[in-house]
Amino acid sequence: MMVKFPLLFTVLVLLSTVTVNAVLYDRPCRTDVPVVQNFALTRYLGKWYELQRFEKDFQTNYDCVQAEYGLLDPTTVSVRNSAYSLVNETSIEAIGTAKFSFPEQDIVQAKLNVSFFGAPNDRSNYWVIDTDYEHFSIVWACEQLGEDRSSEGYWFLSRTRRFTDDVEANTRAFHAIRQYIDRTEIRFTNQLDERCPDF
Ligand SMILES: *[C@@H]1O[C@H](CO)[C@@H](O)[C@H](O)[C@H]1NC(C)=O
Ligand SMILES: *[C@@H]1O[C@H](CO)[C@@H](O)[C@H](O)[C@H]1NC(C)=O
Repeated sequence: MMVKFPLLFTVLVLLSTVTVNAVLYDRPCRTDVPVVQNFALTRYLGKWYELQRFEKDFQTNYDCVQAEYGLLDPTTVSVRNSAYSLVNETSIEAIGTAKFSFPEQDIVQAKLNVSFFGAPNDRSNYWVIDTDYEHFSIVWACEQLGEDRSSEGYWFLSRTRRFTDDVEANTRAFHAIRQYIDRTEIRFTNQLDERCPDF
């Protein structure tokens, strides 16, 4: 049964519910976090499995999370996020769009504005810190909350349910995580439970 909970679907509604699925810090947004340059949107399309994310509130205890991106026009993609609760065995889905935040720039940076359920795309809330397109993507977001507070989101995406053995991909991904992500806040997403659906 596919049950839609637009308001409860906080896991993947990037930063629109900051206090629930993002981590709060007593500091402004960091400015030393890199973003992929010359981002190749078409290579990024297709299906990704979430293997890690930040999550404060374990009530939004969804696993088996998948994201699927499809090209709508050269600067816009469709987003379909799906997840499954291993606790009560229900699926949820969120449909949205992602647009390049600053499409007029000469060098395309991997900064996107993602919104769900028709909400305005008015936040640059999906930054790709690093991706090799074929194995992994490290997605980060930060929202400034007043002068000295911010909230961060983080998602580690993989092309496969179990992360690749590819040495270069592992080295790159773990280097970026070590450098930029607060590992004490990471929640690991279960993708290997046999009940995980293929959405
Ligand atoms: C299923 O569990 C999730 C948390 O794992 C919860 O957010 C959701 O509301 C629950 N759904 C139902 C129908 O109980
Ligand atoms: C994306 O959001 C930023 C604000 O964070 C805004 O300046 C920009 O114009 C938005 N881009 C699009 C394409 O809506």
